[in-house]
Amino acid sequence: MQQAIAIIDSGVGGITVAKEIMRQLPQEKIVYFGDSARSPYGPRKPEEITRFMMQIVRYLMRFQPKLLVIACNTATAVALEQVRAVVSIPVVGVICPGARAAVKKTKSGVIGVIGTECTVRSQAYDEALKDLSPKLQVLSQACPRFVPLVEHGDFHSSHALQAVRESLAPLHQQAQGKSMDCLILGCTHYPFLQGAISGVMGSGVELINSAEETARETSTVLHHHGQLAKSWEQPDHHFLCSGNPVLFQRIAQEWLNANIQVTPVVWHSPKYV
Ligand code: DGL
Repeated sequence: MQQAIAIIDSGVGGITVAKEIMRQLPQEKIVYFGDSARSPYGPRKPEEITRFMMQIVRYLMRFQPKLLVIACNTATAVALEQVRAVVSIPVVGVICPGARAAVKKTKSGVIGVIGTECTVRSQAYDEALKDLSPKLQVLSQACPRFVPLVEHGDFHSSHALQAVRESLAPLHQQAQGKSMDCLILGCTHYPFLQGAISGVMGSGVELINSAEETARETSTVLHHHGQLAKSWEQPDHHFLCSGNPVLFQRIAQEWLNANIQVTPVVWHSPKYV
């Protein structure tokens, strides 16, 4: 049996990371878990998000994955170390890869970060960026309206565009006269809105998405452990979703440009353990 890479997100956002892993590592099997029933994670407390992560990680262990990708910035910010402490397989988060991608691109040294309330409050990007380059200036803005739009498949409506415009207005204010040249999409759902975000930010600001660098790190870690899949047969991916599987399937298929089957997962306790 081919061991899979397990990928976790609060919903469909991690599909943006899964797509890049599929592109860079086409021989790898993926088991994806989207916790859409409890999305968004952004407004929740760190302890609650950590508890959800532990529950999902326990659940996914039945598939005996060889590596775990926490394809959620919010969960990476608050639970990466706790997850690493309880599993014996490598765990890759999305924040350090996102920070690395931005540091490679910026020329001005002024980097914007947009993410959920929890991610922005945690200052995980500020720390990761300043660890890489202490002189960087980081401007952060929470955009709590974005994840619900994406979870409903609403990327192009006038309502979505207005939400993007209004949510980014405070960042524009902060950035005035500061030559910000990169904006980290610090939530894996945001690439779904990248057309609108880019339209509002203008051509002078490059949007940075952590997917490519996260896939590269996944590949490096698997290589290091001698665990890259050797078979060149088409892998049989597995998508699991705790919320509406039909909606999840529609949004994921559109992004992946491929047909997928989605298995619904119903948490047994109404309190979700
Ligand atoms: N995709 C998650 C992230 O990267 C979204 C979190 C949420 O559900 O609010 O942060």
